[in-house]
Amino acid sequence: MNNFIFQNPTKLIFGKNTISNLTKEIPLSSKIMITFGGGSVKKNNVYSQVTKALDSHNYIEFWGIEPNPSVQTLRKAIALGKENKVDFLLAVGGGSVIDGTKLISAALNFDGDAWELVRNPSLINEMTPYASVLTLPATGSEMNRGAVISNTETQEKYSFYSSYPKFSILDPETTYTLPKFQISCGIADTFVHVMEQYLTKKTNPLLMDRWAEGILQTLIDIAPRIKKDQTDYEAMANFMLSATMALNGFIGMGCQTDWATHMIGHEVTALTGVTHGQTLAVILPATMSVLRKQKCDKILQYGERVFGIKGNDDLTIDKIIEKTKEFFRSLELATSLTELNIDEKIIFEIEKRFNERKVKLGEDKNVDGTVAKEILMACK
Ligand code: NZQ
Ligand code: ZN
Repeated sequence: MNNFIFQNPTKLIFGKNTISNLTKEIPLSSKIMITFGGGSVKKNNVYSQVTKALDSHNYIEFWGIEPNPSVQTLRKAIALGKENKVDFLLAVGGGSVIDGTKLISAALNFDGDAWELVRNPSLINEMTPYASVLTLPATGSEMNRGAVISNTETQEKYSFYSSYPKFSILDPETTYTLPKFQISCGIADTFVHVMEQYLTKKTNPLLMDRWAEGILQTLIDIAPRIKKDQTDYEAMANFMLSATMALNGFIGMGCQTDWATHMIGHEVTALTGVTHGQTLAVILPATMSVLRKQKCDKILQYGERVFGIKGNDDLTIDKIIEKTKEFFRSLELATSLTELNIDEKIIFEIEKRFNERKVKLGEDKNVDGTVAKEILMACK
């Protein structure tokens, strides 16, 4: 077990009709900027609940933070926030709106260009306080310090780390309007967040293994229920809580983590626009296959405890990988690059980028450009 310090200060407000808590959670004296995506919140009553709760507050609105939020869009929000001397930010939407708001929060107190903060977060001084109303369970952004920002000019996508949200409101009923594909991507994203903290070493805390397996099993249990009826409150509430718990630092306590699948996935998204969770459903099984030797013990443990597959040979590992793919297919996600019409050019470009950046990923820091290419070739 690794040494660790765990502190997560985000207040979680969870359940039906909880958006009204905004009234008391944000000080009346604040000058708020509310940030939104492309308009889904106007179709599902979230916008009206938010504006009703903040009726007596002083706020402005910024619209148009797109999926895979771009620094180009966020620069406009930062300029608007500075012009209006905003001192509190409220993100209302999915992970993209929350991530984008994290960059705005850091950049409001910075004179240079926001992209510099993404590339060099040590330049971040003071963050403007921010909070969220989450409408899409997937990223864990509502209760973590991470944000992933894209640059559409250079086709790059990078994570950076800043401060935690002050609070996040999670009302599962807001998810009833999600497109089926986004739900599937959210389930896959949550699943892979758990796997990237779990599928590494036998020396990870035994307790964290059980928490991780608990989230994976919960996702496997609720996925068919959600597919049948996405207004099943208990199923959606369990999905939402699972997504938050998968990436708020909790299940990673004392663990060696991987993140190679995510980093390769970000490149695929940056170069092709394929949705984050979908990239992971393609890449994770290939990562398991290519790194089967170093991950052997944990793959076998996962197979037995999560899917009830017993055995300790290479064939058992194949079965476990196939079962993982089957789960992603049950979500109607693609599990190969061919299905996504992604050709070898993209694979070679990612290999080149990783080599240029001297990337070394994974728990053993052995996933460089060459291994990333091998993993992507195994995704074909
Ligand atoms: O923009 P609007 O109109 O709101 O529509 C969104 C968007 O089109 C729609 N949507 C969200 N809630 C809805 C809804 N539609 C109907 N009803 C609702 N209740 O869904 C679409 C996708 O939204 P987005 O926010 O992009 O999805 P997600 O939450 O999956 O976020 C993806 C981004 O988060 C990053 C990804 O890389 C990607 O950029 N990640 C962030 C992480 C973090 N901060 O820790 C970790 C993750 O691994 C991930 O990398
Ligand atoms: Zn993810």
